[in-house]
Amino acid sequence: MASLPSPIAAAAAGFTTPYSSSFTTVSSWPLFSKKCSIKSPKQTHHYGVIKCNATDSENNQKPVIESLNNLDRRNVLLGLGGIAGAVNLTSVPSVGASPLVAPDISNCGINPLTGFKPGPDTPEGTDCCPPDSTQIVDFQFPKDEVFRVRPAAHLLSPSYIAKFNLAIKRMKELPADDPRNFLQQAHIHCAYCNGAYTQSSSGFPDVEIQIHNSWLFFPFHRWYLYFYERILGSLIDDPTFGLPFWNWDTPAGMTIPNYFNDSSSALFDSKRNQANLTAVVDLGYNGTPSTTSDLEKVTNNLAIMYRQVVTNATDPTLFFGGEYRAGSEPINGGGSVEQIPHTPVHRWVGDPRELNGEDLGNFYSAGRDTLFYCHHSNVDRMWSLWKTLGGKHQDITDPDFLNTSFVFYDEKKTLVRVYVKDSLRTNQLGYDYQRVDVPWLNSRPVPRTQKSGIARRSIGLVKKVSETSFPVKLNKTIRVLVTRPKSSKTQEEKENEQEVLVVQGIEYDSQQYVKFDVYVNDEDDDNTSPAQTEYAGSFAQLPHKHKGKLKSKTNFRAGLTELLEDLEADDDETILVTLIPRSGCGDVTIEGINIIYV
Ligand code: C2O
Repeated sequence: MASLPSPIAAAAAGFTTPYSSSFTTVSSWPLFSKKCSIKSPKQTHHYGVIKCNATDSENNQKPVIESLNNLDRRNVLLGLGGIAGAVNLTSVPSVGASPLVAPDISNCGINPLTGFKPGPDTPEGTDCCPPDSTQIVDFQFPKDEVFRVRPAAHLLSPSYIAKFNLAIKRMKELPADDPRNFLQQAHIHCAYCNGAYTQSSSGFPDVEIQIHNSWLFFPFHRWYLYFYERILGSLIDDPTFGLPFWNWDTPAGMTIPNYFNDSSSALFDSKRNQANLTAVVDLGYNGTPSTTSDLEKVTNNLAIMYRQVVTNATDPTLFFGGEYRAGSEPINGGGSVEQIPHTPVHRWVGDPRELNGEDLGNFYSAGRDTLFYCHHSNVDRMWSLWKTLGGKHQDITDPDFLNTSFVFYDEKKTLVRVYVKDSLRTNQLGYDYQRVDVPWLNSRPVPRTQKSGIARRSIGLVKKVSETSFPVKLNKTIRVLVTRPKSSKTQEEKENEQEVLVVQGIEYDSQQYVKFDVYVNDEDDDNTSPAQTEYAGSFAQLPHKHKGKLKSKTNFRAGLTELLEDLEADDDETILVTLIPRSGCGDVTIEGINIIYV
């Protein structure tokens, strides 16, 4: 087994690598058309112009067209044909063509897809619009002399717990229409992900804004917490107050910090899974109680962390998630950490007695539990930590990513417009994380069998991708042989190019907790734990309530380079891929499985 690269070891020692200020060029989401963007002027959004700087196969264009279900299909097709026929495509600039623009909050809830407006008939969970504001100011970096250090939640002193409690208490006591009020703050999450905002400011009034399942996941939540933390600090007159992080990635932090269970505390929430109040968290939660012992859970959790932050996040698109530009929906897929452990932790805390798994188990209600903010503080810490790993572990440089904007109310009740590009460095935002051990950097999963030859032996018994008629249903375990476009690569090739498994066009019911696990070259998949190399990762989606739309479509990917090296299956021409449904997969369908290089 190869040893950890030195930046990782350095990070393990205290995660002190300075932030890099240079950027590499990052390739676009590989499955779809490279650098295609759809620009549509506000007034005439039916006549979108598609700009590409490379010709793509028809196969690659299809998902883009499908994503434009609200544009006139004929015009889009004509547009594509025209571009594809052009001679020098590389001269067509796509830079900054179409970042998502912050929503106009005065249009909140006026959603032409669902036709609902907030009012007495508004379905629960969709009435989450903020108070209106007559002015918006542009964000400026804080000029405070103070710096906030976000502490590990399980290590808080009694006085810090008291401070946190008091701040939340005061937030809950604010008038209901104060944008800093606890419920108003919870609504921010609901509004940005349950269809209350459309992309009308970007010229696409018929397309919703959704901040999950794409490269916007990390920056959106970072901004959300940034303002939340400052509001809390201002309510207790303590500008040094840092939002604690729920340190679920270290054994001592793997339970809900006990002060959240004190029913007299403002941090308490009655809508949590009662079976899990003092249990060891399950970062790979399947939606039902498991029989795994605590020790096994801890081992699995550490391996899952390694898997998701190291093996499955070798490249910015794998870590952050797929492209998401104006005019589209986030169909390209969420990043590794967003899927696991972020999503299972939500669901593990949410209350199964509640219809929709409230509070943390459903997007619309998640922000109503204070634990949400500590959970996301740790998710945000993963972004900082991942960037210390060196190499390709750098922020996305695509202008459409950097120029995406959002609006939030600050601690003075001023509506502030922020850009993703200003969220990349926490020290510029005036905060950082307490240094604690990162034990999972040494938790590389171990193979159950090396050189198993299982893929070769399965030929004739298991269908190849080319013999499978897609879409396939995932109502039972799927096994398929996938041919590797390039086997036997040199070490140098492997370092420059990561091999990635893609499960493509996953259509799922967005009102359910959906999870399936992916195994590679596994002879006994049902008994394989995440601590074994054969486990490649999981697809996971938190339910979200929508009035109109029930199905969503996206992709999943997992890193193969290190995994195949560890299984000593590096020179094999074929791999055996197994998908095991774990939750909500009854009517999940899949359009394809393939291997790409990024
Ligand atoms: Cu916006 Cu944890 O979800």
